[in-house]
Amino acid sequence: MKTIIGQLLIAIISIQLSITTSQNTDRVGLLALQRAWKDKLLEWNSGSDPCGGDWADIKCNNSRVTSIILTSMGLTGGLPMDIGQITELEYLILIGCNFIGQIPSSIGNLENLEDLSLNNILTGPIPSSVGNLKNLSWFDLSANQLTGSLTVSDGITPGQDMLTQAIHIRLGDNKLSGDIPPGLFHSEMTLRHLLLENNSFTGNIPSTLGLVQTVRLDRNSLGGDVPSNINNLTNVNEMDLSNNSFVRSNVPLWFSSLRSLTTLKMQHTNLVGELPADLFSIPQLQNVYVYPFVD
Ligand SMILES: *[C@@H]1O[C@H](CO)[C@@H](O)[C@H](O)[C@H]1NC(C)=O
Ligand SMILES: *[C@@H]1O[C@H](CO)[C@@H](O)[C@H](O)[C@H]1NC(C)=O
Ligand SMILES: *[C@@H]1O[C@H](CO)[C@@H](O)[C@H](O)[C@H]1NC(C)=O
Ligand SMILES: *[C@@H]1O[C@H](CO)[C@@H](O)[C@H](O)[C@H]1NC(C)=O
Ligand SMILES: *[C@@H]1O[C@H](CO)[C@@H](O)[C@H](O)[C@H]1NC(C)=O
Repeated sequence: MKTIIGQLLIAIISIQLSITTSQNTDRVGLLALQRAWKDKLLEWNSGSDPCGGDWADIKCNNSRVTSIILTSMGLTGGLPMDIGQITELEYLILIGCNFIGQIPSSIGNLENLEDLSLNNILTGPIPSSVGNLKNLSWFDLSANQLTGSLTVSDGITPGQDMLTQAIHIRLGDNKLSGDIPPGLFHSEMTLRHLLLENNSFTGNIPSTLGLVQTVRLDRNSLGGDVPSNINNLTNVNEMDLSNNSFVRSNVPLWFSSLRSLTTLKMQHTNLVGELPADLFSIPQLQNVYVYPFVD
């Protein structure tokens, strides 16, 4: 009897401990952020429970921190490794807060993230560990100074092709380079909006792009032909391929197979020929910017 009660007590104490410990890692993580950000603006009271209700810009569920949303805060500093301790985070939105430095690889520990939006002055590569964010539906690292290339998993290292729940991938206005790997897109993905404009991507447009609705690849250094075979983009409604380095090529036939098209922008794309007349039979087409044509 005694031992049963004893074991029960131990069990209760250890459950209690593990709850306190996971709550505590949130607090440790948040305080590390506060330190890294040399904060004078955040209303975070280091002496109290982050889920106690008096920490600004934090939301909790079941005593765990699930959301941090900071916009235009004029903070300084970087994103510390300890951010990876706030493991129940679902929303991490840091926009216009002037954060510098690299995105820590520990971001990949935040497996419950659904929305990761970081628009600051971040540099360095996109850590391959973001591929572990299986629940991510909104992935926005646009308007930073990120370098390096997009990565595809190889069985050991994760990659961005693993973001199968991502609806919205927005990496525009950075300094990303290299090819857009064809393996990035595959049939298990739910990707609808792919925004990679104003980077330094090279190579060809992969023909695997598939079921996206919005695609912006304008202002890169993509080369080769404007592909003649993106027939699978049947859902695309907005497409901007302007200002790349495509070689001179004929107006592609697939223009008029894009039956969902509302906006087509292809300025300075080295196209020769005339627009197919049946392009204008697409009922909801609103904007076409395809010029200049070369002779
Ligand atoms: C809080 O978490 C519970 C289960 O963990 C979930 O059912 C509920 O929807 C969550 N509430 C919010 C507001 O996210
Ligand atoms: C992801 O989302 C699903 C369904 O919304 C949820 O059951 C799961 O706990 C979430 N977290 C992870 C790590 O998959
Ligand atoms: C293009 O991206 C660079 C790098 O992030 C940025 O400095 C620049 O302002 C962007 N250009 C436009 C027109 O947004
Ligand atoms: C287009 O889709 C079909 C069927 O989903 C697939 O077999 C084919 O390889 C795709 N074409 C390209 C160029 O990706
Ligand atoms: C492409 O470049 C031209 C001239 O450099 C500029 O006028 C135009 O606005 C650009 N278009 C897009 C969509 O970036």
